[in-house]
Amino acid sequence: MYQRIQQYAIVLMTLGAISYNSNALGADDLAAAKAMAVNHCGSCHTFGKGEPPGQGPNLFGIIGRKAGTAVAFNYSERFKKAMEGQTWDEKLLDRWLTDTQVVAPGSGMVYSQDDASKRKKLIRFLSSLQ
Ligand code: HEC
Repeated sequence: MYQRIQQYAIVLMTLGAISYNSNALGADDLAAAKAMAVNHCGSCHTFGKGEPPGQGPNLFGIIGRKAGTAVAFNYSERFKKAMEGQTWDEKLLDRWLTDTQVVAPGSGMVYSQDDASKRKKLIRFLSSLQ
């Protein structure tokens, strides 16, 4: 019996080490970040290459993309005016997700996330859409 418990303990320790390792590689982080993005953004946005927009534009390749240039999406005039000439990078995304209405007042996307670690997580996932 005692030996069995010991065996289980070793298995658990090994599993712990494995998940710790993949954490270091970021696989777990990315999966968690994706789940969060699906949860917070997935009702309006699609993430896959070439996917049609939803209520919001498709976000594939958003990092390095000029704001307001997703295909087949009609941006609001206010968004276009506020974002003209800007390119999405991590910094701009961080400002956007902090409060969209500060970056583009009157935009069709109303969202504010005051938890910096959650914004970081979302941006980590968005950065992976290449
Ligand atoms: C209720 C719907 C809705 C939700 C939820 C939503 N968005 Fe949006 N999003 C929009 C709309 C609509 C636009 C276009 C805004 C406009 O035209 O005024 C937009 C625009 C954007 C843009 C600009 C894209 C471009 O092509 O320039 C980014 C980036 C973005 N959203 C990211 C996100 C992220 C990340 C989340 C989740 C945290 C999210 N959105 C949640 C509706 C939404």
